[in-house]
This record gives sequence, C-alpha cells and structure tokens, in this order.
Amino acid sequence: MEPTESRIVLHDVSHAYRQGGRRVPVLEGVSERFTTGEFAVLLGRSGSGKTTLLNLLAGLDVPEAGDIEVLGTRLPALDDAARAAFRRQSVGMVFQSYNLVPTLCAWENVALPLTLLGLPLGEARQRAVDELATLGLVGLEARMPHELSGGEQQRVAIARAIVHRPPVLLADEPTGNLDLETALDVVARLVEVVRAHDITLLMATHSLEVAGRADRLLRLQGGRLVEARHP
Ligand SMILES: Nc1ncnc2c1ncn2[C@@H]1O[C@H](COP(=O)(O)OP(=O)(O)OP(=O)(O)O)[C@@H](O)[C@H]1O
Ligand SMILES: [Mg+2]
Repeated sequence: MEPTESRIVLHDVSHAYRQGGRRVPVLEGVSERFTTGEFAVLLGRSGSGKTTLLNLLAGLDVPEAGDIEVLGTRLPALDDAARAAFRRQSVGMVFQSYNLVPTLCAWENVALPLTLLGLPLGEARQRAVDELATLGLVGLEARMPHELSGGEQQRVAIARAIVHRPPVLLADEPTGNLDLETALDVVARLVEVVRAHDITLLMATHSLEVAGRADRLLRLQGGRLVEARHP
C-alpha cells in the first residue's frame, strides 16, 4: 500500500480517561490505516472505545500517546484552533447524540458547514434542502430539532455531516435510532456519496446488517483494534 493512499493513519495510539484520580485505559497501542474511498466499520462492545477513537480522529481530543495523521496532517501537533479549522474543512462527523444546534431549524443545521466554509446563504440553503431530501426528510426542513423524532434528528445530523462532501467522514452509530429498513436506506445513501466523492468513511455500529455493507470490519477489543469477519 502506498502511504499516499492512506487518508487516516494511527501510529501506536493509546488513550485513557481520568476518573477520581485513577487512570482508566481505553485504547492501548492502536495502529491502523484507512485508505481513500474505503468504507470501514468499527464494531465492539459498549464501552470498548469506539466513540473515543472517532473523537480522536476528528481532533476533538488528543491521544495520551502515539500519533494520528489525517490527510497527512498530524493532529496532535496542532493547537485547538488549528484542529478545529482542520475539522471544519476536512472532516464530517455524525455524533452518537446528534449534537444538532437546538436554536437552528433542520435546514439551518445542515447548511452550517457550508456557510462556515463561506458559501452564500442562498446556495447553502438549497444544498441543505436537497441533502435533506435524499435522506427522506422532505417537508421537515423548517422544523426545530425538538420538533423532530430521534430518527429524524439522526438523519439531519447525517445530512449535516455529508453536505460539504468532506474527504473524511466519521459516523458514530449513525443508524442507532432507525428501523432496519430506514437504516439500510440511509447507509445506501452514505455509500453512494462516499463512492461518488472518494470519501473515506469510518462508521461505528452495533448493527450487523449495517456492517454487512462495509468494505472492511474492525473490532475494538481490550483496547486493541483487530480485523473482524463479515457475519
Ligand atoms: N469523558 C470521559 N471520562 C471518563 N471516562 C470516559 C469518558 N468517555 C468515555 N469514558 C469511558 O471510556 C470507555 C470507552 O467509552 P466510549 O464512549 O469510547 O465507548 P463506545 O465503544 O463508544 O461505547 P458505546 O457502544 O456504548 O457507544 C468507557 O468505559 C467509558 O465509560
Ligand atoms: Mg459510543
């Protein structure tokens, strides 16, 4: 594999949280590469560290040890502001808890990454509305997050993560609140966008049906990342 093909590289990454003065290790020496256009699924028991790993890759947190390169940029070497700017430009993130802005309606939430990148509001609005439509949310564009169901909010969060076609997309349990049929529709849409734009997608999920659509399965187990097989 050519190193240039790797969009995401983890070098011996370890991470722990502090709880009441005690160090609780979560990741222990994780090394892995993800290539351009790859769709990889991250499996693992609740508490195994999937969200922790995705947050590190998004630059929302810095690993205790080891190095992380995303698109050739070493994230731990950047300060907070530079990491935030990098994320805005290059990473789409679907959070497990959606993280929609409660004071913005659905289309405004989706338009946010575009306006932050300088797109005029009218154009951003049109692209947001179109993206919401691809996820089955026609007619809900002007609803506030609290007026949407959990699954609808989840799809708004997905639209927001992909609307600017970031080269790296990190999705934390993005179908956790959807029935299987809707979940598979949403994953099909994600795969379509990922293939059309050569996006690298890393998705944490507990769903084996969703995992079945991935190019590669990995499992977090005992702080390590291991190859897993399709069920
Ligand atoms: N901010 C934090 N402070 C302390 N411990 C934390 C923190 N965030 C997570 N943890 C702990 O780290 C471990 C990994 O958590 P993480 O959220 O990464 O798991 P996960 O694999 O995403 O689980 P789930 O499938 O339930 O979403 C868990 O034991 C959790 O309790
Ligand atoms: Mg999680």
